[in-house]
Amino acid sequence: MIYLDNNATTRVDPAVRDAMLPWLDDHYGNPSAGYRFGKESRKAIEAAREKVAALIGAHPEEIVFTSGGTESSNAAIRSALSYTPEKSLLTTAVEHSAVFEIAESLDEDPTVSDQGLNPVQSSGIPCLVEWKEALASEKYGVASIIWANNETGVISPIAEAAEIAAEHKVYFHTDAVQAVGKIPVDVGNIPIHALSLSAHKMHGPKGIGALYLDRHSRFHPSVIGGGQENNRRSGTENVPGIVGLGVAAELAASRLEEAAKISSLRDRFETRVIDSAEGIEANGAGAERLPNTSNLYFSGVDGEGLLILLDEAGVCCSPGSACSTGSVQPSRIIRAMGHSSSRARSSVRFSLSRHTTEEGIDEAIAIIKKAVSKLRVVLPSGSRVISSTRRN
Ligand SMILES: Cc1ncc(COP(=O)(O)O)c(C=O)c1O
Repeated sequence: MIYLDNNATTRVDPAVRDAMLPWLDDHYGNPSAGYRFGKESRKAIEAAREKVAALIGAHPEEIVFTSGGTESSNAAIRSALSYTPEKSLLTTAVEHSAVFEIAESLDEDPTVSDQGLNPVQSSGIPCLVEWKEALASEKYGVASIIWANNETGVISPIAEAAEIAAEHKVYFHTDAVQAVGKIPVDVGNIPIHALSLSAHKMHGPKGIGALYLDRHSRFHPSVIGGGQENNRRSGTENVPGIVGLGVAAELAASRLEEAAKISSLRDRFETRVIDSAEGIEANGAGAERLPNTSNLYFSGVDGEGLLILLDEAGVCCSPGSACSTGSVQPSRIIRAMGHSSSRARSSVRFSLSRHTTEEGIDEAIAIIKKAVSKLRVVLPSGSRVISSTRRN
């Protein structure tokens, strides 16, 4: 298998797994218990909190453990909105559904009007002129922008977007799930009120993440009960998961310099695939991107058909379309960049990790080349290319 779907999830690092095992085994004490056996678990949680805080330049008390990126973003945005009920959420057209669907759900709420979706350029970079105008309108109480896009890897101008929000005294959240662990993220340098991150995107376990909450801001918890996490997220803590996230964060911090190696492998992959046939382009190529992500448009090729052939040949990657309620929807991210539905349907995301090898990449390139030519029918003139699996 050649695994090129690391933006979906990553392999758990053996050091992460080994660190988690005792907390699934002998060390099962409840961290809220007053005896030593419970206090050991509490100590492990606090050690993990320090590691997560260190990765993003935060103070440990600013880290709240959650079930992952989705919960973190929901908790941050819903809390911030609760303090400004008369105002709306400004976000972008290229958010992950964890944020996008909050904006959509608010849109359906008759008490809230005009949920802003800031446009993006054709490169996928959010437009700051419109962002500035929207925030100056005083309609928005909360602004949220994705740090790095999960489909294209395009990196947002986070510092500028946050500064503009700060100028207008608007609460600022960022979904940094794809950025943390891949590129430097430092909340100390940028006026960020809340940030979401997730362990399974950086070789940690699934179902655990964190929410950074600036210690000077108010927070209204979504999950109430036992008062864990300093009253910010109730429920008995997922000790093994938290320990795993801590080790994953520590490893990620020590491996940030590996980005250069990953991006050179990604560039090799991208250039060679693009050169292997006509009509192949990278979506978001004009923007600064995550080092590991390549979203490719294969003109005249049905993306689904390509994924099937790649899967049969052992290559794991993701479609530029998502299955929802039984029908395949072309990626709204690619469409928000001004591309057609057909381009979105012909796009595929490949995402690498530190485990991706040069041999794996070269093998994948050969498999992709073969699959693309199989799916294309070259007309006699040789000048036009059509898909063998057409859509209406
Ligand atoms: C940008 C982004 N935000 C949020 C999420 C959701 O994170 P989780 O799976 O931890 O809920 C993902 C996962 O795909 C993501 O890529």
